Amino acid sequence: MEEPWWKSAVVYQIYPRSFADSDGDGIGDLGGILARLDHLVGLGVDVLWLSPVYPSPQDDNGYDISDYQGIEPMFGTLADFDRLTAAVHERGMRLVMDLVVNHTSDEHAWFRESREGPNSAKRDWYWWRPGRPERGVVGEEAAAPNNWGSFFSGSAWQYDDTSGEYYLHLFSPKQADLNWENPEVRQAIYAMMRWWLDRGVDGFRMDVINLISKHPDLPDGESTGDGLYGDGSPYYVCGPRVHEYLAEMHREVFADRPERVLTVGEMPGVTLEHARLFTDPARGEVDMVFQFEHVGLDFGRHKFDVRPLRLTALKESLGRWQTGLAEVGWNSLYWNNHDQPRVVSRFGDDGPRYRVRSATMLATVLHLHRGTPYIYQGEELGMTNAPFASVEDVRDIEALGHYRQAIRAGEDPERVLDGLRARGRDNARTPMQWDTSEHAGFTTGTPWLPVNPNHTTINAAAARADPESVYHHYRRLIALRHSEPAVVHGDFTMLLADDERLYAFTRRYRDTTLLTLANFTGEPVELPAALATEWATAPLVLGNAGTSIDPATLQPWEARVQRKG
Ligand code: NOJ
Repeated sequence: MEEPWWKSAVVYQIYPRSFADSDGDGIGDLGGILARLDHLVGLGVDVLWLSPVYPSPQDDNGYDISDYQGIEPMFGTLADFDRLTAAVHERGMRLVMDLVVNHTSDEHAWFRESREGPNSAKRDWYWWRPGRPERGVVGEEAAAPNNWGSFFSGSAWQYDDTSGEYYLHLFSPKQADLNWENPEVRQAIYAMMRWWLDRGVDGFRMDVINLISKHPDLPDGESTGDGLYGDGSPYYVCGPRVHEYLAEMHREVFADRPERVLTVGEMPGVTLEHARLFTDPARGEVDMVFQFEHVGLDFGRHKFDVRPLRLTALKESLGRWQTGLAEVGWNSLYWNNHDQPRVVSRFGDDGPRYRVRSATMLATVLHLHRGTPYIYQGEELGMTNAPFASVEDVRDIEALGHYRQAIRAGEDPERVLDGLRARGRDNARTPMQWDTSEHAGFTTGTPWLPVNPNHTTINAAAARADPESVYHHYRRLIALRHSEPAVVHGDFTMLLADDERLYAFTRRYRDTTLLTLANFTGEPVELPAALATEWATAPLVLGNAGTSIDPATLQPWEARVQRKG
C-alpha cells in the first residue's frame, strides 16, 4: 500500500487571531495569513493547520463555535477563506481545519433551540439533566446533576432558568457539550465535515475528540485533592463509544474520498493503549493523536503548579510512545501549540546567551523522532514566554478561572501569578513577531494582547537574515525530513536512558543509521567513552554548535545529528 503523504510532512499551526492583522483592528485575520505565506513557503512546511476561524462569540478564542459553516467576520469572509485555500494549494501546501465538535457555543442555533425547553426537537442534542434537590438548592451549584468540575474551574454544569434544568459543559458555560449518543447530532456533524472537504480543505485537527463519548449515567466522580469537585474523567476520557464514533465518522466522511486527508485527534488523557487503537490504519479511526504525557511531566498538583522536568522521565515517556506506535499507528510530535507555554522558556534557556542554542537543540530532538512534527507559530523564531506584569494582563479564560479559584481558596496571589507566568496559555498567544516595528509588524492598530517587548531582537525579519537563526535551523530540519528516508521511516532506539543531561537516540533505515545527541543543560557534558568512540568519525548531518564537533564533549545545549551508511 502506498504510504500516506502525511508521514513525511511537517505541519505548521497558525493561531489566526495572533498571526497577522491585515485591517488594523488589532486582531489577526485571513488576509494577514495570505500576506505572510512566503514566510511559510521559505520554511518549507507542508501543511497549515488553522485554529478555529468560524463565527464565534470568542469566549474561548474561537473554540466556542456558533456556526460551523461560516467564517467569523473579524477574520474575514468565506470568499477570503476560499482565496486563502487556493493560495495555499498553489504553493504546494495543504490546509487543515480545526474541528470543535465536543461542544458548541451556547449561541449556536442548535443550542438555542435545545434551550427552548424539554419539548424542543433538539433538547437531546445536548446533556440536559434536572438538579438534585437533596444536595442543595436547585439553581445553585450544590444541586448540580453530578459533581464534575470543568476544565476551566467551577462546576461542569450550568443552570438554565427557562426549564429549571442544568446542561453539561466540560469547558466554559458558553461551550455546551453535544450529546453524541444522538445519531442526528453525529449525522449533522459528518455533513458539515463533508461540506468543508468539498470546499477543498485537506483534513481536520479534532479538538478534545476523545471526550465525545460520555458514560450515559453521568456518575459522580471520586473527590479530588482540593475537595471542590469530583473527577469525572473516567466517565468521559476515551468513553465507552469513542472508538465506535470515530470509526463511524471515518466511514461517513473520509473512507470514500479519492484524496487522502490528514486527521489528528487531540486527546487529553489518552493512553498509549487507546492511541494504538485510534491510529491503527486497519481500524479506520484517525491518522494520529496529540497525546499529553510529555507536556504533563512537570506538573505538580495541576498544570499551574510548576515542577522541574526530569530528563529521564521525558525520555521514558517519548521513548515508550515511539516504541508503542512503531508497528501499528503513528505519532504526532509537538512541544508547542496555542495551549502550551513556549518550549524554549519551559525546557530550554530563554536568556540571551543560550536562547538560540537551546531552541535549536529542542527542535532537533523533536524533529528527529519518528512521527509527524507540528510547529506552532513563532516556535521557528524561538519566541519566548511573555512578561505578564499582573493579572490585569491575562486574557485567557482558563488562567483567569484558575486565578479566581485559587485566590478564593486562600492562595498567595503572587505565587498564583507565577504559575500563570510559567504555564498560562497567553504565553503562546502574544502576537507573532515579524519585525522590530512598534507592534512587531503584527498590526497597525492596537494588538488584542500586547506584543512581547523582546520583538526588537526576536523577529522573523532578523531570523531570516541570519543563517544561524532558529528559523534556518527549523528550515534545515524540515529539509532533512524531506530528503532523508531514515528520518521518516527509520526505527527508533533510545540510548542513555538513565542520563539526566543527555538525550540520545538512533534511527535506522536500511543501511543508514542516524544518531541524535543533545545536551539538555547549560554546561558542557562529556559523552560516555564507548559512544564517543563509536561515532567519532561519523559525519555531521546537522548541528547547532558550528561545523566542527568535539567527539568527546557536547557544548551547553548542543544538539548534533551524525550519520553512518
Ligand atoms: C482544546 C483546545 O486546544 C483549547 O484551546 C480549548 O480551550 C479546549 N480544547 C476547548 O475547546
